[in-house]
Amino acid sequence: MHTPAHVRPTDWWREAVFYQVYIRSFADGNGDRVGDLAGLRAKLPYLRDLGVDALWITPFFPSPMADHGYDVADPRDVEPVFGNLALFDAMLAEAHELGLWVTIDLVPNHSSHEREWFQAALAAGPGSPERARYLFREGTGPDGAEPPNNWPSVFGGPAWTRVPDGQWYLHIFAPEQPDLNFANPEVVADLEETMRFWLDRGVDGFRIDVAHGMAKPDGLPDMVPMDDTGLLDDHGPGDHRFDNDGVHVVHRKIRAVLDQYPGTMAVGEVWVSDDDRLAQYLAPDELQLAFNFKLLTADWSADEMRDAIDHSLAAVGQTPAPACWVLSNHDRPRHVTRYGDGEVGTRRARAAALLQLALPGVAYLYNGDELGMPDVDLPDEALQDPMWFRSGGAERGRDACRIPVPWSGTQPSYGFSSDAETWLPMPRGWAGLTAEAQERDPASMLSLYRAALELRRSDAVSGDGLEWLPAPDGCLAFRRPGGLVCLVNFSGSPVPLPEGRVLLASADVAGGSLPGDAAVWLQA
Ligand code: GLC
Repeated sequence: MHTPAHVRPTDWWREAVFYQVYIRSFADGNGDRVGDLAGLRAKLPYLRDLGVDALWITPFFPSPMADHGYDVADPRDVEPVFGNLALFDAMLAEAHELGLWVTIDLVPNHSSHEREWFQAALAAGPGSPERARYLFREGTGPDGAEPPNNWPSVFGGPAWTRVPDGQWYLHIFAPEQPDLNFANPEVVADLEETMRFWLDRGVDGFRIDVAHGMAKPDGLPDMVPMDDTGLLDDHGPGDHRFDNDGVHVVHRKIRAVLDQYPGTMAVGEVWVSDDDRLAQYLAPDELQLAFNFKLLTADWSADEMRDAIDHSLAAVGQTPAPACWVLSNHDRPRHVTRYGDGEVGTRRARAAALLQLALPGVAYLYNGDELGMPDVDLPDEALQDPMWFRSGGAERGRDACRIPVPWSGTQPSYGFSSDAETWLPMPRGWAGLTAEAQERDPASMLSLYRAALELRRSDAVSGDGLEWLPAPDGCLAFRRPGGLVCLVNFSGSPVPLPEGRVLLASADVAGGSLPGDAAVWLQA
């Protein structure tokens, strides 16, 4: 048992800024074209200087990589491509020394098909205790040749695959990701063991993958057919694959383990848009945080953003949790691209950063947000996401938002790796996007993030909640209890600056007005 060298204050996460490290794409320490723990370790000082409080590291566990690590073959070890346990421990210790909290992904809903358990289930046959760890069923129709129900996989195709003895197994994601059976106490006990394994090593918490999955309704009834079963969208109560009431039992078990490690926390990936249903995950004995995807799914408009913010605050208002704001992650187009790409997308992304970081509660940044990384259109032959393959090329998948981070230099791989090639190709023309180039430029996205993160530590950006202020058409303005006023102009034309001392602006406000697609922080 490792004893953490640091003492965690309770609720250190309540106003924290987390930085999502998509491990494959963050930094490659050993020149094999794939990011890893050694690469991350070398960049810890950069993250400290950026001013974030905590990390979320995406899965780095042994995996055949059918879903780039979200198919876990052994939840209690490190994938050799990413390093080993000793390297993890060293990285963790160093992060703690630098004052960074470290959280890691926990993937309870499914395992890899290569996990020993699944291989044993295949070998043991129908009716065995080995099969009872997963969701094996007989098929329907003549000879059971039809799947047990009509559920589609979120990656395309049916959520069922047939095995040679005739049974079918459920996989809400890829066939290489069989769903585990959370009605089986052995499965729950195994999850608890995994949590303890990492908590004993000193991690400060978890991001819980598909936290609205895990529980499946009795009898696995057909779901309401839906035209678009798209990735992780919330389709409401007709979609029996997600958000079943039984999932809260699992969350209470997860919380009970965390409570034995004071100060540790979990954030859930909960794609549930109904405010009341989302709030249930944040009961005092369940998750401390749930990602709020309303900001990530809102268009660049004052009305949509206002609505997203109001609903998010209303959802957490009934719970002990703060709001938890996300603009981008490894599953969705990056916000620079969503907001129009190129110059306009970047302008808006600068404004969005000031909006996100002024809101009360927790903020999650995705690696590269601080550099203003856009999505990259990749040629077909470069695509790797299972969505692309499973949808027969109908969906291009998520590779575009997973391009490696550009660190320095003028040519691919821009200091990401010692190799010029990378697991997803990096484009030409990114010399100006590197951290090195932006560090020297006071007008860069990186400089804006650093300034905003520093100001976020001041009294102005403090206190619970916000007060909406009157604002010109196409704008949003609010005040935080600490005195910060944030004005965001979603329109194309300039508006007058409100009273107050300008603390930070995403565009030039020298003439006394805030240009379109820009935001400003003022001390009123
Ligand atoms: C989560 C992850 C996504 C993954 C899926 C299946 O939504 O964020 O990347 O494909 O779960 O594990």
